[in-house]
Amino acid sequence: MNVAQPIEWTSQGVVMLDQRRLPGEVVHHIYTDYRDVAAAIRDMVVRGAPAIGVAAAMGVALGVERSSAATLDDLRAKFPSICQTIAETRPTAVDLFWAIERMKRRFDQLATANASLDAVRSAMVEEARAVHAEKRATDEAIGRFGAEFMPAAGKVMTQCNAGALATAGIGTALGVIRVAVEQGHKLHVLVPETRPYLQGARLTAWELHEGGVPLTLITDNMVGHFMKTGTVGAVVVGADRIAANGDTANKIGTYQIAVLAREHGVPFYVAAPISTFDLTISSGEQIPIEERPADEVTHLRGVRIAPEVAVANPAFDVTPARLITAIICERGVARAPYTESLRRLAESASHSPRAGTAGQRSAM
Ligand code: MRU
Repeated sequence: MNVAQPIEWTSQGVVMLDQRRLPGEVVHHIYTDYRDVAAAIRDMVVRGAPAIGVAAAMGVALGVERSSAATLDDLRAKFPSICQTIAETRPTAVDLFWAIERMKRRFDQLATANASLDAVRSAMVEEARAVHAEKRATDEAIGRFGAEFMPAAGKVMTQCNAGALATAGIGTALGVIRVAVEQGHKLHVLVPETRPYLQGARLTAWELHEGGVPLTLITDNMVGHFMKTGTVGAVVVGADRIAANGDTANKIGTYQIAVLAREHGVPFYVAAPISTFDLTISSGEQIPIEERPADEVTHLRGVRIAPEVAVANPAFDVTPARLITAIICERGVARAPYTESLRRLAESASHSPRAGTAGQRSAM
């Protein structure tokens, strides 16, 4: 099955598919300056937690590769501000900070070893490319672990876009659906439009349609109706940050879907890589929630649809762990109590960082 590529490292620079223009236009941009990569993350040219992580790694690599530094010391002095610029883009998806930390660790290794400037430049590019390659493998493993939770036939629901566009692989939530469909499950996906940014309508509907997966697009306020009529077999969503206790931040609207799923006895799965775990925070209350511009709510494609009134636009909400049936990652499946199961999965990953190759299932 073909998947859309949101980001690619090329000899010309970092190439991104402009997700703001989908589905109407397929437009790519080439970035040669890390500050433009930062702006692209902030302005949602690229979005979705794992893809933001790949973009962050590539942004840092670009900053190093194209730096005017003439010596290693010079580069050492410039490096923190490259990382800082990338870090100050979007606050919720922890993959961004995970990727920056990983690039910092690689840079420190090279600097400590007094590597030549050329060696540092090419090793940092290699590291960013490795982050990208690992995302693909990670998604495939998540898809394999998750597919068995999908019903043999019938409707499943997702939220936002946790597909190839959001991960630079085959997708997390949509990766689970894709693998299940490839294995012969007869799935039909209910896609809430995901106001206000419409990732469901614009991106998930496009991806599924292009991939030949049957879907029905619904508005966000139809979720309760479809849950109540009993046709939803499972919900599977991605994540932007998962706290140590399993509380999960994902696109605004996810929490209400989880509440409705519980009310109607529908299993609710989160599919996300270990890079989305934030075990440094004990609960979802500590997850910073991005507040986005008011005009995303008051305007539709440039046309004002509301008077000039107070507007709230939190981009994410937090689903409490008690509403989550299981969290599926590249190392297996975590179940409550999550404090225990997530830590075990994260530790097993840190011993073997090339994720996605292991076949073991760590159901807990
Ligand atoms: O604001 P966005 O479009 O970056 O939000 C994306 C989401 O909330 C996704 O569901 C999440 O990042 C998981 S992507 C695999």
